[in-house]
Amino acid sequence: MNLALYGTCFESPFLVQLQRRCDRDRGVRKARSISRSRATHVVASATRMASEEGVVQLQKGIAELYDESSGIWEDIWGDHMHHGFYDPNNLSVSLSDHRSAQIRMIEEALRLAAVSDDRLLKNTWVVESSDDMCHKENPMKRPKRIVDVGCGIGGSSRYLARKYGAECLGITLSPVQAQRAQALAAAQGLSDKVSFQVADALKQPFPDGQFDLVWSMESGEHMPDKTRFVSELARVAAPGATIIIVTWCHRDLSSEEESLKAEEKKLLDKICDAYYLPAWCSTADYVKLLQSLSLQDIKAADWSQYVAPFWPAVIRTALTWKGLTSLLRSGWKTIKGALAMPLMIEGYKKDLIKFAIITCRKPA
Ligand SMILES: C[S@@+](CC[C@H](N)C(=O)[O-])C[C@H]1O[C@@H](n2cnc3c(N)ncnc32)[C@H](O)[C@@H]1O
Repeated sequence: MNLALYGTCFESPFLVQLQRRCDRDRGVRKARSISRSRATHVVASATRMASEEGVVQLQKGIAELYDESSGIWEDIWGDHMHHGFYDPNNLSVSLSDHRSAQIRMIEEALRLAAVSDDRLLKNTWVVESSDDMCHKENPMKRPKRIVDVGCGIGGSSRYLARKYGAECLGITLSPVQAQRAQALAAAQGLSDKVSFQVADALKQPFPDGQFDLVWSMESGEHMPDKTRFVSELARVAAPGATIIIVTWCHRDLSSEEESLKAEEKKLLDKICDAYYLPAWCSTADYVKLLQSLSLQDIKAADWSQYVAPFWPAVIRTALTWKGLTSLLRSGWKTIKGALAMPLMIEGYKKDLIKFAIITCRKPA
């Protein structure tokens, strides 16, 4: 089945019925009730935007979505539940290329944040200038203690623990993910380095100043209170630590705009329903939040062009025999997520969705 046919299926009476059934899901309704007011209010009033009851329902939906879908994802895609980073000039890639693109995403994020690269001499980094490359003393050195906020089944945690010989603690809302992450760590001989638990990123179970690398790979979009989310990342960061947030954002608003256009909001609302997301914010909103916390060396980039092949590839794997049978055996939340995949492509094509990376350093 090709993509166009998939689009047709999306409108079929069976799938419309399915969608209606999904829409009746209480968790989604509660998640939808979380205000989708003007994104720039995030900085000032993110806490007000989500009622306590709405947050509880949203997080229940997130936990159930990942409890239900993580096994299928791992079967087909492996242990990284995030976009790949691709060469925009080479869009014909195989599944194994997708896996290496997911690893490249981690490496590119570390590189942008100037976290130590172990391919180089210990405690040095490479700075690329216009016409030369030079090694510089890396002020951060190798991270020794890492927190993986929204860890999935622990792909990043194990990768980073192995790369740096670091201790890594992962948190997720999904008990199934935490258990699987721990089992994979044991199977890979990493039990003494990494550990996972069910915990809320908005109330992290860690004392202040614990981690020299704070890592959030594609979990920020699920956070109903971005101010609280970022404050928690900063709180658990040790002095001098690096914070890396890779997340879905909506486009920045122009100076004349008060909010996104009505049709843009409508598209994002549909995606929110499918993936248990609260209100979106822009990259500029994140930057303002980091500035308001006096974090330093703030860098932000739009990597949308580098992730473009990802969703078409996920759709292609969902439309294989293995993908379809696994989907049908999964559950409503997973099927609903699969149905929404073309909406992500539409969002990127319309320049509405931005794949953003934002990094900074806590003052030493
Ligand atoms: C798309 S997955 C990304 C997983 C992982 N970072 C990776 O790259 O493989 C999103 C993750 O965010 C987690 N998450 C969402 N909201 C969370 C919260 N409030 N606290 C902790 N984890 C959360 C989910 O449980 C899930 O593990």
